[in-house]
Amino acid sequence: MNRRAFLSNSLAAAGGAVFGSEPLRGRGGTPDLRPPLDGSMATFPKNFLWGTATAAFQVEGAWNEDGKGESNWDRFSHTTGKIRGAATADVTCDHYHRYKEDIAIVKQLNLKSYRFSISWPRIQPNGTGPANERGLDHYSRVVDTLLEAGIRPFCTMYHWDLPQMLEDKGGWPNRDLASYYADYAGILGKHLGDRITVWAPFNMPWTFAYLGYGAGAFPPGKSDYALFLRAAHTISLAQSQALRALKAASSHATVGSAYGMAPAYPKSDSDADRAATARYHAMNNVFFLHAAMYGTYPKAFKGEIPYEEMGYRPGDETIMKAPLDWVGFHYYTRRIVSDAANAAAGGAQFGTETELDGGGAGSRDTYTSFHAEMPTEGPLTDAGLEIFPRGIYDLVTQISKEYNDPVIEITESGCSYLDAPYPTERGRVPDMRRIEFFRSYLAELARAIHDGAKVRSYHAWTLLDNFEWADGFSQRYGLTYVDFRDQRRTIKDSGLWYGRVAAANRIVG
Ligand code: FCB
Repeated sequence: MNRRAFLSNSLAAAGGAVFGSEPLRGRGGTPDLRPPLDGSMATFPKNFLWGTATAAFQVEGAWNEDGKGESNWDRFSHTTGKIRGAATADVTCDHYHRYKEDIAIVKQLNLKSYRFSISWPRIQPNGTGPANERGLDHYSRVVDTLLEAGIRPFCTMYHWDLPQMLEDKGGWPNRDLASYYADYAGILGKHLGDRITVWAPFNMPWTFAYLGYGAGAFPPGKSDYALFLRAAHTISLAQSQALRALKAASSHATVGSAYGMAPAYPKSDSDADRAATARYHAMNNVFFLHAAMYGTYPKAFKGEIPYEEMGYRPGDETIMKAPLDWVGFHYYTRRIVSDAANAAAGGAQFGTETELDGGGAGSRDTYTSFHAEMPTEGPLTDAGLEIFPRGIYDLVTQISKEYNDPVIEITESGCSYLDAPYPTERGRVPDMRRIEFFRSYLAELARAIHDGAKVRSYHAWTLLDNFEWADGFSQRYGLTYVDFRDQRRTIKDSGLWYGRVAAANRIVG
């Protein structure tokens, strides 16, 4: 693209970015774990969808059954030194075989929405070519089981497990993946689109692009910011091409997202920190949302948008634009952001936990040039994440304002605590801290809805303790405890409590 085209594209992007340019103010304050509740605010709207979420690779196991191809995460987790405790997801929760028992738990907890993901290599073992009928049949049975139980099937089409063959062809930095992905979307729409109406193309696109190609913590383990930029652009193209392929195959399809977001607060009131916070929001929260809604990238970079490095071609703005029907995002914790030029060395440590930003290097890249920290003023979960209930209020309100009051789905929210069955209490799992976590986050969500946000669902992460990516089995986010030695499931006290909340449609004691 010539320089003039670059410039006019940057201007278009800057124009579009007006929405994303107003950062939240203050540091967000000290976490208040028990916001005051009056009866009306603790109640949720009629038909609110209480749900839970899982991801294929984390729960299914059966890694090489029924014609499934190898995935990037199979390869990565089979590589010595990549996963804590040398864990693999070859079996994990065995959900592939036990989905009926697990969906019965979803029903027992009175939940009406189950967000699950489809493993691409079960459908196309090599990532291209004809569909594997046995893979499709499996998900068809899952969908039927959900519908029979009166539960809405919410399908994430990609929760990070890429056919290894496509990784071998260069992975997401290879632009060809956008059209391969659209073919895959068309297959799903054709075979499952008569029964699935709610689709999210990608789980946390920034995270798998950045941790995979920019920070090396996820497969394929590369650390090159230029590769991350190319991957991000391919994913934008893939997202919108998938939307069109789904809609062409199924007239019932509605398409949204499952982005990872963290409300970002400037470290100081300086212009530089406020501008850095806006860049964080543009890059980590709304980059792909903005691309879909407007066909432009938001102002995530300190200078011009690096079109050349991204592999941008003239006309891509038309491909990228495919407005979403609803907006889905996860909320776990907040960020405090400063301009990288002024950021003091040190600060909070980044983990490789999936909700975090990965290594510090990328957060100080010269393109976005911000420094993001997770504060530790509030209590920490066993995964080391700060509990910050007000963040969900701020985030939901901010997205509502910036994107013209969309219908919102909270696609994930939850916490890891290691509580286990307690023998003297007949094997109960008394996980009070998780109940307190949900109580405080839900109270703030209710407040956002009360103030006008159109939130229609909340998906607790997650149904079952499972394989937590590079952390292996060292974290337990489930509403249900899983004993990985014998696959025994025990609904935790938090799961039973959440089931009562769902039945009452309000926060209960
Ligand atoms: C999210 C991921 C999910 C799980 C939770 C803890 O970022 O989407 O798969 O790892 O974090």
